Amino acid sequence: MAGPEKIYFTYNDIHETIKKMAAQIDSSGYEPELMVAIGTGGFIPARMLKTFINKPIYTVGISYYDMENKPKDSPQKIQWIDEVEKKLQGKKILLIDEVDDSRVTLEYCLRELLKHGPAGIAVAVLHNKQKEKKGMIPEEITHYFAGIDLADKWICYPWDAFDIKQQDRLAAEQ
Ligand code: G4P
Ligand code: MG
Repeated sequence: MAGPEKIYFTYNDIHETIKKMAAQIDSSGYEPELMVAIGTGGFIPARMLKTFINKPIYTVGISYYDMENKPKDSPQKIQWIDEVEKKLQGKKILLIDEVDDSRVTLEYCLRELLKHGPAGIAVAVLHNKQKEKKGMIPEEITHYFAGIDLADKWICYPWDAFDIKQQDRLAAEQ
C-alpha cells in the first residue's frame, strides 16, 4: 500500500537545521531571555538549540488530538508553566516547536503566552509545511523563524524512530 509521502530526517540533519536557525535568530537582533518548548516535538530541538543560544528552557504540553487522532474542538493544556508564569512577564521569549503544520496549536500557545505580559515572543520551528493554515500567528509576534520550508508531506523525525540506522538509511535514500 502506497501511504502518504514521507520525508525522513536524521539527527545530524536536525543539528544542521538548528545551527542555521540559531544564526538566523542571532542576525535578526532578537535576543531571547528564555525558551519555551512545546512538547513533545519541541523538547529535543529546544535542547539542541540551547547549545547555540544558552537560555533556560521551560516546557508546555498541549494536545489538540484525541486518542483516536481526531482534532479536539480546541487545543488543551496538558501541562503548563505554573509557578513560573510570572517569570515570563517582561521577558523576551523564544517559542520552539518542531513543525508548523496547521498552526492551530502554535496560535493557541502564542495567545496563552501573550497573556503573561512578555516583552516579546519569537517563534522558531524546524520545519514549516507550506499549506493553507488553520491558525494564524498573532500580530504581536515580531519574529518567525523556520529552519526549512517544505511541502505538505509527513515528516519522520529521528526521535520517533524505533530503528535509528534504518531512519538514517531512509533519509540517505531520498
Ligand atoms: P501546529 O500548530 O504546530 O501546526 O500543530 P498542529 O496543531 O497542526 O498539530 C501538531 C501535532 O501534529 C503535533 O503533535 C505535531 O508534532 C504533529 N505533526 C504535524 N505534522 C507532522 C509531521 O509531518 N510529522 C510528525 N512526526 N508530526 C507531525 P502533538 O500532538 O503536539 O504531539 P507531539 O508529537 O509533539 O508530542
Ligand atoms: Mg509538537
